[in-house]
Amino acid sequence: MALQRGFTIWFTGLSGAGKTTLSNIVHHRLQSEGVTNVEVLDGDVVRTHLSKGLGFTREDRDTNIRRIGWVAQLLTKNNVPNIVAAISPYRNVRNEVRKMIEHVGGPGSFIEVFADCSVDICEKRDVKGLYAKARSGEIKQFTGVNDPYEPPHNPEVRVDTSQCTPEAGADMIIDHIRSKGFVKL
Ligand code: ADX
Repeated sequence: MALQRGFTIWFTGLSGAGKTTLSNIVHHRLQSEGVTNVEVLDGDVVRTHLSKGLGFTREDRDTNIRRIGWVAQLLTKNNVPNIVAAISPYRNVRNEVRKMIEHVGGPGSFIEVFADCSVDICEKRDVKGLYAKARSGEIKQFTGVNDPYEPPHNPEVRVDTSQCTPEAGADMIIDHIRSKGFVKL
């Protein structure tokens, strides 16, 4: 597989919906097929440095997303494929980032992937134990419990992570970037 031009794969979805899992698989799939210069920006990691100190108010989340979007835009401009995994619950700021990326990377270079999974199922998984803490009131403003999540209207790819395996979800994403000509066999 050879890279043709830069792009941003932007995962959005609830905590526990599978954004990080999918982004890791896509990352490794690209690497193993010869696209080696891929960067991953994961919300949990970004919040330990670039966005350290930010909380979970709408304002802070939007700031977080604008910062990640800014870095993603620099990478895309320089033909470094990048993968973002952040809840990014607000549609407006996601669309703002979409414009910024497409401005430097061209049409289609912002690939929004909706990791779609109900709160019920994410809560049953509760990998990090955060839903339980949100229900008990220990964590406030937790997305899907007592803070909003606005699903994308027209994501480039929608992966129903309650129905398909992570590998099948990754296949859908790789198929998309291949069909749009971002990578070639
Ligand atoms: S975003 O809303 O700004 O896009 P981001 O993806 O960076 O969120 O961070 C979400 C991660 O922070 C979650 O996976 C979870 O581990 C942790 N977290 C802590 N508090 C909250 C909260 N109130 N709402 C959502 N996630 C939280």
